[in-house]
Amino acid sequence: MDVYGLLGNPVGHSLSPPMHEAAYDELGLEARYVTFEPDEDDIEDAIAGADALGIAGLNVTIPFKQDALEIVAPEDLAARIGAVNTIDFSGSGPPTGYNTDAVGALRALRDHDVTIQDARAVVVGAGGAGRAIAFGLADAGATVAIANRTESKAHTLAEEVPRATGHGLGDLERLVANADVVVNATSVGMESDATPVPADALHEELAVLDAVYSPLETRLLRDAADAGATTVDGAWMLLYQGVEAFEIWTGRDAPVDAMNNALRSRL
Ligand code: ATR
Repeated sequence: MDVYGLLGNPVGHSLSPPMHEAAYDELGLEARYVTFEPDEDDIEDAIAGADALGIAGLNVTIPFKQDALEIVAPEDLAARIGAVNTIDFSGSGPPTGYNTDAVGALRALRDHDVTIQDARAVVVGAGGAGRAIAFGLADAGATVAIANRTESKAHTLAEEVPRATGHGLGDLERLVANADVVVNATSVGMESDATPVPADALHEELAVLDAVYSPLETRLLRDAADAGATTVDGAWMLLYQGVEAFEIWTGRDAPVDAMNNALRSRL
């Protein structure tokens, strides 16, 4: 029996257990996916304990993603992002840390036939999600403009991400009008029916990914659909970060449809 899990605090409403267990059921794997909620001070002991107990893999979420980077051996992209959301214990050395949020966004876009190479991308938000997505898009060959409410954070991030530029939200209208891809990596749209992107700037050549998955249909995605743009909801990103983790841990292709059905039936 292989044991996988999620380290976070809180983790009570996580959709990862049903999503991963649907994959185990589909492929007939003897495995379980459970949640752990260590105290903030205990993260190092928790990861060492998981290693000692033979746990096969862990996802890591808030508030431990940055701490985890210091405890495991991070792969290059995770180190540059500064956060680990997936740990693999299968090697003989120290556990390896990955950031599958970045790849999750790329795979969500590619699943919708969006080309990233040479795309002009706009990432709205420069927090944890914005960082991961900006590095992911840049590594995949996009030119990335980062726009953030606190403009200084966009500039700081843009200095780290290859070929990126930093902006305030006031530049969004112009940036989006000239873009191929827009990603919302802020929390705007989660609590209220608000959007960070002026609707007038959206157009039919655009692909719009919203990292917000509750609600699934945000105002941004409604505006984007009205403008004739390709829309990619946040559940796709959530799905593909899990798909990527599953594939790192098992070395097998994930049963994407089964995982997607398990996820969407709970949203
Ligand atoms: P996460 O890890 O989910 O990215 P975070 O690190 O707290 O969360 O980042 C939240 C992002 O949403 C930030 O880019 C934040 O902008 P600031 O850096 O200016 O705080 C953005 N954000 C949150 N509320 C916002 C709002 N009402 N309008 C615009 N941006 C907002």
